[in-house]
Amino acid sequence: MIISIANQKGGVAKTTTAINLAAGLSLEGYKVLLIDADPQTNATQVFIHPDNEISPDKSLYQVMVSFGSLSGVILKTQFPNLHVAPSHIRLSGVDLELAQAFDNRSARLKKALDSVRDRYDYIVIDNPPSLGLMTINSFVASDRLIIPVSTAFFALSGLVQLQETISMVKQTQLNPNLEIMGVLCTFSDRTNVSTDVEKQLRDYFGNLIFDTSIPKNVTLEEAHSNHSHIFDYSPNSAGAIAYKSLVQEVLKR
Ligand SMILES: Nc1ncnc2c1ncn2[C@@H]1O[C@H](COP(=O)(O)OP(=O)(O)OP(=O)(O)O)[C@@H](O)[C@H]1O
Ligand SMILES: [Mg+2]
Repeated sequence: MIISIANQKGGVAKTTTAINLAAGLSLEGYKVLLIDADPQTNATQVFIHPDNEISPDKSLYQVMVSFGSLSGVILKTQFPNLHVAPSHIRLSGVDLELAQAFDNRSARLKKALDSVRDRYDYIVIDNPPSLGLMTINSFVASDRLIIPVSTAFFALSGLVQLQETISMVKQTQLNPNLEIMGVLCTFSDRTNVSTDVEKQLRDYFGNLIFDTSIPKNVTLEEAHSNHSHIFDYSPNSAGAIAYKSLVQEVLKR
């Protein structure tokens, strides 16, 4: 199963969710590939040590722009069952670089994934905060979407455009099978704003909202700077408990 973590709004915990969902699934014994489709390379930096510099031709850039093989760029992490396809800052140019492409440029990632998907139980894609060509490639390649929404600010603005993009991908037959697996409330706390936003989201999305909400928890941020996921860095933290519960929900859905 291929799961994209997406929301064009920045800073809503896409990367944090992609990392900890991928890690949590790998700890359940599944073989997991985490694809970093964001030119900001945040997920790459967590798992690949900065000393180990990734060149563009060893990253997803090569796969997207030069039809490089995906298996040629996949790296092992220090954790068993968890592999990463790293990103590169040059990925930010794919919209321009592929502007004149004659092939189906929305399906390049999907094509590349066809050659590796049998090796993994779950493929998790971390997406950039945009609805550009890279995100469209992820939507075309994915079976399911998880949409993290921060309950800290303006959560609902932008969700209509995101839903329109998902409908476009389905209706134009780019990927008729794409479905939202769930909407995930992130950065939740006991403030009135957070409680109100979470209620609005539950009213709007109904059953699509995961029962699990991810609380504000600074340990999640610390794990990143320690090149780790939350289950390794602080397995008893509130963040670890929440992401473990999300993993169980994903397995059920
Ligand atoms: N539940 C949380 N509690 C506290 N801090 C968090 C939590 N989730 C994520 N963070 C921190 O908030 C920041 C934004 O999170 P993250 O990078 O996962 O968001 P993003 O949606 O991937 O951002 P971008 O759109 O830039 O890719 C990061 O510094 C991250 O460590
Ligand atoms: Mg991110």
